[in-house]
Amino acid sequence: MNALESMIFYPSWRKCQFRKAEFHPEGCVWLFFESQRFLASKVKDFIEGSRVCFLSDSAGPEWLASRLENFDRIVFVAETTWSYDLNYNEVSNFLALLKVIQKIRCTEFDIVTVRSITCSAFRAVTHPHDGVFVGLGQTFAQEVDFSVRVLVLEHISEKVIYWILHGTFPSRYPIIVLDDCFLIPTLKRNAACSHTISCRESSCFRNGGTYLIIGGRGGLGGMLAKYLARQYKVNLILIGRSPKDQKQLDNLVKNGAASVTYEQTDVSDFERVKAIFKRYPRINGIVHSALVLKDSLICNMSDENLQSVLSPKLCGTLNLLRILKNMNCSQLDFVLFFSSVQSYIANPGQANYTAACVSKDALANVLRELYMVNSKIINWSFWGDIGVVASDYYRKRMSKLGIESIREKEGLEIIEWLLSTKLKQVTVIKASDNALKRLNIGG
Ligand SMILES: NC(=O)c1ccc[n+]([C@@H]2O[C@H](COP(=O)([O-])OP(=O)(O)OC[C@H]3O[C@@H](n4cnc5c(N)ncnc54)[C@H](OP(=O)(O)O)[C@@H]3O)[C@@H](O)[C@H]2O)c1
Repeated sequence: MNALESMIFYPSWRKCQFRKAEFHPEGCVWLFFESQRFLASKVKDFIEGSRVCFLSDSAGPEWLASRLENFDRIVFVAETTWSYDLNYNEVSNFLALLKVIQKIRCTEFDIVTVRSITCSAFRAVTHPHDGVFVGLGQTFAQEVDFSVRVLVLEHISEKVIYWILHGTFPSRYPIIVLDDCFLIPTLKRNAACSHTISCRESSCFRNGGTYLIIGGRGGLGGMLAKYLARQYKVNLILIGRSPKDQKQLDNLVKNGAASVTYEQTDVSDFERVKAIFKRYPRINGIVHSALVLKDSLICNMSDENLQSVLSPKLCGTLNLLRILKNMNCSQLDFVLFFSSVQSYIANPGQANYTAACVSKDALANVLRELYMVNSKIINWSFWGDIGVVASDYYRKRMSKLGIESIREKEGLEIIEWLLSTKLKQVTVIKASDNALKRLNIGG
């Protein structure tokens, strides 16, 4: 295994057998969104003796606290119907619920969703919006000192509900609960991987091709734009909200780009993004490299904060799906999503970013499995020389944690390699063995 290969980790799931714990149905309340009463009626048949309560816009914090404070166990269940829009009201109701639960300090809190994240046990994600609750829940588990379990079901059945109530599960990761066992996600190196980087012979990029980079003014997007200009003399379309940076565009032309256009557009604005695709119907590759980073603990997080972080990743990706569904994609070789290792490690203080990354990863799965578009995900760890966290502060902080910066040359080689393989998703981390152990990666 060479140095580059040792930075690459693959999602993997460890099978575990159920173990029974004590359970008192009278101490348990089940929570559903008001809009998902049908789901509640489905689950009710299996939860005799437990109370049911509905989350709605009118359920303010005091009302919620008064309903929940007498229970030691709260189980929230969501199975959100597919839509190209995100229901911000429900996301904000869920955020309010987390704050109430933190205040009343129940003993156990379960967040249950169905097929909301990618997993080997089921091919297609069918409820990607619920990735938001998974991401928020994963991080919440690390910000509070009581048990928070994030459970992702393949389907709702009597057996599965029985084990949610009676089983013991670890609380740090989203657990996949199947009828007869559960799966714990891990990230593993794969020494036996047949896709070794040194074997790469061809590139997925076309000489003179046309590439759209969302977030192309930023660190990683700008780096890739420059590489594509120099190496493949491509036509570039860059998207960002800020005014154009003429110097960057001139530089890209100087580096060899056949053409460069900057579209000052918010990727969450469907009509404007649709208009861009109309103007450039022959795009060969799309890279989603946009993010907004606004760290906050859940107890201090405002609705506006959460929405602004979800917007480019989740709403931007929903817009892409909506556009690609109605487009002739015969020219489109790939859609590459830049995501974060945060999808797996869910650092405290970054619940908004985790939620954005987990749900974006889930949508990339939908794009691949249901829309038949070749979508790829790279969950990066730390870039210390370019991008949003390229500062002395972060370099020092990461170095203390044993995490090294990914270098430009390494990142570009990994992008080239991933696009030339059949692999769908990799995580890239450069870290000491101790750091990896602490993050529970690679074991
Ligand atoms: N840097 C790292 O260490 C690191 C680590 C893990 C993952 N990643 C991932 O890598 C990607 C790129 O990160 P980066 O470090 O290059 O960040 P960056 O330098 O901040 O670039 C992100 C770009 O996204 C654009 N953007 C934000 N919201 C947008 C919106 N609604 N519509 C259109 N454009 C929008 C921003 O431009 P405007 O503000 O002008 O819109 C900005 O240029 C992200 O997906 C991130 O999650 C980075």
